[in-house]
Amino acid sequence: MPLKSTNPTKTKSWNKLDELYSEFQEFNLKEDFKINPDRASDFSIKWEDFYVDFSKNLINKEVFNTLIELVNEVDLKDAIEKYFSGDIINQTENRAVLHTALRSSENEVFVDGENIIPGLDEVKSQMNLFVNEILSGKRKGFTGREFDTVVNIGIGGSDLGPAMVVDSLKYYKNHLTTYFVSNIDGDHVNEVIKNLNPETTLFVVVSKTFTTQETISNATTLKNWFLNSMPESAVSNHFVAVSTNLKKVEEFGISLDNVFPMKDWVGGRFSLWSSVGLSIALSVGFDNFESLLLGAQKMDNHFRDTDFENNLPVVLALLSIWYNNFYEVETEVILPYSNYLNQFATYLQQGIMESNGKGVDRSGKEVDYQTGTIVWGEPGSNSQHAFFQLIHQGTKLIPAEFIGFVKSLHGNDDHHNKLMSNFFAQTEALLNGKTENEIKRDLGKKGLSDSEIEKILPFKVFKGNKPTTTVLIDSLTPESLGKLIALYEHRIFVQGVVWNIFSYDQFGVELGKELANNILEEFDTNNIKDSHDGSTKNLLKHFLDSTKVVCL
Ligand code: F6P
Repeated sequence: MPLKSTNPTKTKSWNKLDELYSEFQEFNLKEDFKINPDRASDFSIKWEDFYVDFSKNLINKEVFNTLIELVNEVDLKDAIEKYFSGDIINQTENRAVLHTALRSSENEVFVDGENIIPGLDEVKSQMNLFVNEILSGKRKGFTGREFDTVVNIGIGGSDLGPAMVVDSLKYYKNHLTTYFVSNIDGDHVNEVIKNLNPETTLFVVVSKTFTTQETISNATTLKNWFLNSMPESAVSNHFVAVSTNLKKVEEFGISLDNVFPMKDWVGGRFSLWSSVGLSIALSVGFDNFESLLLGAQKMDNHFRDTDFENNLPVVLALLSIWYNNFYEVETEVILPYSNYLNQFATYLQQGIMESNGKGVDRSGKEVDYQTGTIVWGEPGSNSQHAFFQLIHQGTKLIPAEFIGFVKSLHGNDDHHNKLMSNFFAQTEALLNGKTENEIKRDLGKKGLSDSEIEKILPFKVFKGNKPTTTVLIDSLTPESLGKLIALYEHRIFVQGVVWNIFSYDQFGVELGKELANNILEEFDTNNIKDSHDGSTKNLLKHFLDSTKVVCL
């Protein structure tokens, strides 16, 4: 069954939220904490090794309850069941959305009348065997040397997820070094090549469709480079593929014995749990890969079974909707206080913006309300020295999600306490700000005269009242990372349901690809067509003319 289609702005709760928002202009978080001693416990959720405090948000009980009414009115419960049961909820591509099945402990999940679980178990066993053979050295390169390097060739979901997880779990990595090649910019692949020894490198070509220009070009370049020093017969020892398109894989020259299949009901940006995660399993071992899956499975169960008030993905999704649709904020920021999560925000950008960057609702009508949020971020404490100024004192309201860990992995308490003191201090500073009186008092103590204080005062004020959510996790493990990623996957789903859009297609990336192919043909024939707009025509001519200049 398809998802129900409800215009969220026509619900009672949306209208009530509109009213509440108008009354809410004067709401002051700092004051509310003083009046309501239970605020922190009322607005926090403890689940497994996660402690999520959302009390520093611009909400009160009435707003929160109305947001919960909103998901009830759009029948989120029904949508969740359809999502997990394999209903065709990706209607525009006529597919189920079943990345949850990849980490499920259930024995049966049906797609088109077929139980998909046995097939998934088979692929997992294939991955397990392969990973163990590579790591133990049983499976060797063509010249008999053991593998020490893996190159993942893919882009978008076939790159960002595995790259983020491999980087995030670096602490758990084994002897293999993993590189990722994604960009069509030849400088990317050529920089990676500098580090490779063809005898000890395994190439994993990851492409759901196996038609993606970037991936096929990079894989071809790497294969040609490999064949400069190795015979054609060595390809089968060193190249494997992950794809749904077996025909194209064979055409590329990778034998079907070396293919790890995936299914079309796994969206690229949600695919790291599938055979797309092969580079992850190679980097941290199959047991750790399974722990990652287990973490996601636990979050799936939490999402499916927990009442909405205590449901982490639902609560995070609703807070974001409150700011996006009522405060009309431009962006939201994700701030992991772990350098291991360096790529987390980049990874989420695809998940969030490719999924919910849609302007047409599920009945095909253009929406007249905001949908997909713009998300960005960098790890703390680096980000504090980069863009925090604007969050504290700029003119834009930027809701922030802080993600931190109670225990560090390296056990260096000195560093970790300093890191976490910053983590907590920032949310406190954003909440409380600093008043004129406090500044006067501080500057007075420093010996500044009254006139000096008056002059500098306006620049020193922090208004505070800036919303933050704190996700505090015991420690960064494969399992907790699995939970965290799945938390955001479901947050995306909830938002798509409320906004009444289709979150699982990505037609918006097609037009640019199409035009790039046309332009490439024009480069090849050295003939710029008149049909381009004036600006593009001039740019193309300038490019072609400049590339003709011979450099001495
Ligand atoms: O950018 C569009 C997109 O289709 C993504 O959704 C996908 O993750 C990526 O390209 C790569 O696609 P493929 O795995 O088919 O090469």
